[in-house]
Amino acid sequence: MKTEVVILAAGKGTRMRSGLPKVMHSIAGKPMLGHVIDAARAIDASAIHLVIGHGADKVTAAFKGSDLSWVEQREQNGTGHAVKQALSKLDSDSRVLILYGDVPLIAADTLRQLNELCGEDSMSLLTTNMTDPSGYGRIVRDKGKVTAIVEQKDASPEQLHIQEVNTGMMAVHARHLSKWLPALSSDNAQGEYYLTDIIAMAVADGVSIEVVQPESVWEVQGVNDRVQLNELERYYQSCKAREVMAQGVTLADATRIDIRGTLSVGQDSYIDVNCVFEGECRIGAGVHIGPNCVISNSSVAAGTTIKANSVLEEAVVGEGCDVGPFARLRPGTVLAAKAKIGNFVETKKAVLGVGSKVNHLSYIGDCDVGENANVGAGTITCNYDGVNKSKTLIGDGAFIGSNTSLVAPVSVGKNATVGAGSTITANVADEELAVARSKQRNITGWKRPTKKN
Ligand code: UD1
Ligand code: CA
Repeated sequence: MKTEVVILAAGKGTRMRSGLPKVMHSIAGKPMLGHVIDAARAIDASAIHLVIGHGADKVTAAFKGSDLSWVEQREQNGTGHAVKQALSKLDSDSRVLILYGDVPLIAADTLRQLNELCGEDSMSLLTTNMTDPSGYGRIVRDKGKVTAIVEQKDASPEQLHIQEVNTGMMAVHARHLSKWLPALSSDNAQGEYYLTDIIAMAVADGVSIEVVQPESVWEVQGVNDRVQLNELERYYQSCKAREVMAQGVTLADATRIDIRGTLSVGQDSYIDVNCVFEGECRIGAGVHIGPNCVISNSSVAAGTTIKANSVLEEAVVGEGCDVGPFARLRPGTVLAAKAKIGNFVETKKAVLGVGSKVNHLSYIGDCDVGENANVGAGTITCNYDGVNKSKTLIGDGAFIGSNTSLVAPVSVGKNATVGAGSTITANVADEELAVARSKQRNITGWKRPTKKN
């Protein structure tokens, strides 16, 4: 039986106090709704219907995918009303998994269990037990069997003592939904169409209610305000830090690393405090990353050291390199083995050969550097004329003196030397020395001006 997912995401989220729809707030750099969509995709849902309302345009703009279908709920008249808006899009032979856009950490494994227990004659419900169940719908049982869900505001004093609560997530056959949802009434304490009322309808129709409980309570934790958002973020990050340590990596402080994407790290690497990893990052074995580094969509090969306060963005760093402190490797930077990038160096679309060095205060952009070249302090590739970008080529073994401007397009040949302070506008051939600076003049007996009283 195929599964279609309906994600409820129409609510405003008043308590977030935000111009952004609640489900667009991020956990680990990804909107909460994105986490829920990923979980739905992980169980191979054939379609994902998103019920949106508040800030609908911002939500639709943020997500793309042929498996997504958008359903607008103009007025938020309750969870039952919300699911009903999606009815016409559902295939009557599907099983329907109902999720919440503001409950982001639901695990695919839990969804699989819910799915397996849902059929033509059964539906499944995700519940959990809470020592303080206030605010939640309570699971009413009779001789152990679930018979209804009663909302906090409609519950009797005895029912309020029930500690088993409704997480809101469930799996129901579409055929049942199309019978039960139109029959819901809003005659209750909140004047809403409660999705939870279908439980009593199921019991009346002889459909059995199967219960699943999540492995961790965090899976069913919803977000209503920024405190809860931060609680989930910190929990999520603590899990990521554990995954990294399980790979054989030492963290200076497991509470001071943030992983906003996927990070794979080889054994015996070390990550100092306050490092942030974004997107897809791959770090090899025996890598040392100093404090305060930000590494995005980059790879760093084995045995490399990235010193404090370095920023890597779409960079590929080879084995045994030395980067930083205070280095900035921008997109298109590729360092071969044993290359060195020192402090206050910015690179962009720069390819460095084996053992080449740019040690201090340089900008190297749109540049290919051969092997074992040495680029002196304060060297600038002048790669941009205000309209076009041009390339600089530096050959194997070349030596660029300090404070050189390389006005691209230009090339410096193998083992060529450029004198310090040169502005190089013409190509330098292999083995040549180029000096392009005004000649020094010394004036003997020069008298400095003196101040008159
Ligand atoms: C709901 C459940 C309650 C459960 C709790 C778990 C009902 C009637 N109650 O209560 O049993 O314990 O969730 O958190 O279902 N939404 C819409 N459109 C609407 C109303 C809600 O899209 O018209 C969305 C919200 O954006 C939110 C979710 O549905 O993502 C839950 O709505 P909310 O109002 O928070 O439900 P609760 O009253 O907390
Ligand atoms: Ca809620």
